[in-house]
Amino acid sequence: MSGSIDHLPAGAIWASLPVPALLIDTANLIAAINPVAENFLNASQKSLLQQPVLDRLSIDAPMDEALDRVRRNQSALFINDVDVTTGERPPVQCNVQIAPLGDVRGLLLLLISPRELADRLGRVDAVRSAARSAIGMAEMLAHEIKNPLAGISGAAQLISENLNAEDRELADLIVEETRRIVKLLEQVEQFGNIRPPECRAVNIHDALDRARRSAVVGFAAKMQIIEDYDPSLPATFADADQLMQVFLNLIKNAAEASGKTGGTIRLRTFYDLALRLRRKDGQGSALPLQVEIIDDGPGIKPEIAESIFDPFVSGRENGTGLGLALVSKIISDHGGIISVDSVPGRTVFRVSLPVAPREAAQPAMEI
Ligand SMILES: Nc1ncnc2c1ncn2[C@@H]1O[C@H](COP(=O)(O)OP(=O)(O)OP(=O)(O)O)[C@@H](O)[C@H]1O
Ligand SMILES: [Mg+2]
Repeated sequence: MSGSIDHLPAGAIWASLPVPALLIDTANLIAAINPVAENFLNASQKSLLQQPVLDRLSIDAPMDEALDRVRRNQSALFINDVDVTTGERPPVQCNVQIAPLGDVRGLLLLLISPRELADRLGRVDAVRSAARSAIGMAEMLAHEIKNPLAGISGAAQLISENLNAEDRELADLIVEETRRIVKLLEQVEQFGNIRPPECRAVNIHDALDRARRSAVVGFAAKMQIIEDYDPSLPATFADADQLMQVFLNLIKNAAEASGKTGGTIRLRTFYDLALRLRRKDGQGSALPLQVEIIDDGPGIKPEIAESIFDPFVSGRENGTGLGLALVSKIISDHGGIISVDSVPGRTVFRVSLPVAPREAAQPAMEI
């Protein structure tokens, strides 16, 4: 190959992008569209140019707000696992990526459907069922390995009682490392065992508070945690334990990203009525309750930014990569969405949730 990528014509790169890509101008009108996106929208470039992008694409996420955020912060935004439809075709689950285009002031919108992409590469079911069976297998293995491990750790503990100091250190190492493996296996088991949420009216601040209290006595001991709450926030409709697990995982990631020196985590809640979820049937449902977990750590490593919500994707040496996959599953089971916005020095995970229906918000009547 001769020449560098700088010499490739931009048009050729644009045309050969294997995923739907759209350029959006400052008024959210379509300024350019690649051939895969024409196909996706089942319309010609000519008929799409200068059309409001959100009229042509129905995305099951608060897009107006997302586009504004990318413009404001000039950093890319990823929204995972949302349904995208054109109104004519059945919705496709996509990971939506919005990136700023710097000087041009436009935005680049990519619709990445893991399923369609794999389809095109001819290995859809292989990939999906491999992922599914990998988790199933891991779960089974986790279960089976735990018993012999308990034996190993028990035996090492007994042995260590009769050893000199130097050898005891080695036996203790066995005990410690087996404990670490058990913990990891428990996480794998837990991932395969998420039950459907048992939803009732839940005060988001209670769930955040439980997570915060548990965090500060453990992994977030070095972190300064700031609560920036809107106390008038109404209750959400959720499984309180699962919600607490979501916040705990997000706080844990923020603390781990900040490293040994510590840092600051801001827990912010606010109400934003503008956020509506566009459903496939055209009905809108509001997700006005916003919870942000903001840290001032180094930011998400660019090489994994697109896949942090996938299982087993980790940027940490000892990470299992299951935390955010679990978070994403729980939030989508609750009809909410999670998005992330990260630059070095500021990472924001935002969870958007519905308000509890009025009936649920009343305390149950005792009979
Ligand atoms: N606040 C954050 N700042 C920087 N990077 C983050 C942040 N949150 C997540 N990440 C990155 O995303 C990766 C995936 O996170 P996830 O919680 O899924 O897995 P993990 O933390 O590596 O392992 P586990 O949660 O299973 O122990 C992390 O390893 C880290 O690289
Ligand atoms: Mg984690």
